[in-house]
Amino acid sequence: MKVALGVCGGIAAYKAAEIVRLLQDRGVRVQVVMTRAAQEFVRPLTFAALSGEKVITGLFGAGAEEPNIDSAVEHIAVAQSIDALLVAPATADTLAKFANGLADDFLSTLFLATTAPVVVAPAMNVNMWAHEATQANIAKLKQRGVRVVEPGAGYLACGMTGPGRLASNEAIVSAALEALGATQDLAGETVLITAGPTREFVDPVRYISNRSSGKMGYALAEGALRRGAQVILVTGPVALKAPGAAEVIQVETADQMRDAVMANLKRATIAIKTAAVADYKAKQVAGEKIKRAGPMTLALEATADILAEIASVRENQVLVGFAAETQDVLANARGKLERKQLDIIVANDVSKPAIGFDSDRNAVTILTRDGGAIEVPETTKWEVAHRVLDAVVALKQRKAATIRS
Ligand SMILES: Cc1cc2nc3c(=O)[nH]c(=O)nc-3n(C[C@H](O)[C@H](O)[C@H](O)COP(=O)(O)O)c2cc1C
Repeated sequence: MKVALGVCGGIAAYKAAEIVRLLQDRGVRVQVVMTRAAQEFVRPLTFAALSGEKVITGLFGAGAEEPNIDSAVEHIAVAQSIDALLVAPATADTLAKFANGLADDFLSTLFLATTAPVVVAPAMNVNMWAHEATQANIAKLKQRGVRVVEPGAGYLACGMTGPGRLASNEAIVSAALEALGATQDLAGETVLITAGPTREFVDPVRYISNRSSGKMGYALAEGALRRGAQVILVTGPVALKAPGAAEVIQVETADQMRDAVMANLKRATIAIKTAAVADYKAKQVAGEKIKRAGPMTLALEATADILAEIASVRENQVLVGFAAETQDVLANARGKLERKQLDIIVANDVSKPAIGFDSDRNAVTILTRDGGAIEVPETTKWEVAHRVLDAVVALKQRKAATIRS
């Protein structure tokens, strides 16, 4: 998901730096577009460093630099590539341009050229905000479907007190997420997610592990964050970047994963276990590297059954497990759901090479304790994550309805 963040020339321009961070924490890519006046307040370098993307500062390329053919119609390319346009802070000037269809700089041209939803967060002097012209522009924009994050009242940098102050960054980000279609149906929930493989050591340099990449768990973490939840991500070693807003607990072995899960379970309202925890570990871990000396037998013992332990101590948490199977997928998954007293189990057939371990795609069946089965045909793990979260939300709603009746 990608948002273009338009930054205009007002005192509050510096606050946009944090908005970049907050959006990125929720897994959103940010393309910053600065007006000429905005660059008087904050240097583009700040946004380039934060966003990790080139900052757009003008319609015709910077200074003497010749625009090449690729960048010549950049406003159209950006307009087509974004999922939302957020303008924060939005000045009286830029709002007037938007309302009247002027297109004399990159941001106002982008506004006309994009069909993505638009969110504006105005910030200005009290009288500028109250002025009939500004209010008429705001009314016109609202009428055309532009979402307005209303400014708050308070002490303004101009020394006056009243409405005109940029809304809180949290309110702005949440409006942008809503525009992106991300409902906030997990607001108030704390989701504990386990992800990735574990490593069971044989000696100081060798371990037994599995092919889990952690992609499913990380997609769930990102999805839950975007839907407003707090996320605790207990992760085995993977080559993925965790979403910035998640509380991340790195573990290596099944025992460490168990300890981390049990220590944090009380804080969670939803627990989703995607980690491929080893079923066996070495009975004895050699203190020194084992030397080659003919055939050897490795004695293994079962690791802690984390799901069973959660089931035995859980309070009201919704408990979701994953079943990676290679045969009799649905029957095995349903059996695991009953045995481990899960609310939901996500069954996936990891014998198919295009889906499952280390793939960006997956096809699953979401089974619920009350007998429901939702088929999710092959799609991205991101999409699968949202279908799983949909099932969790639906289950919570059913539970709440039962309690009420
Ligand atoms: C110090 C200073 C602070 C300003 N603060 C604001 C502001 O908060 N809101 C606003 O609408 N205009 C503010 N302005 C006026 C804008 O910078 C001016 O209207 C400019 O043309 C806006 O250009 P832009 O909309 O392309 O960014 C300020 C100007 C100065 C010199």
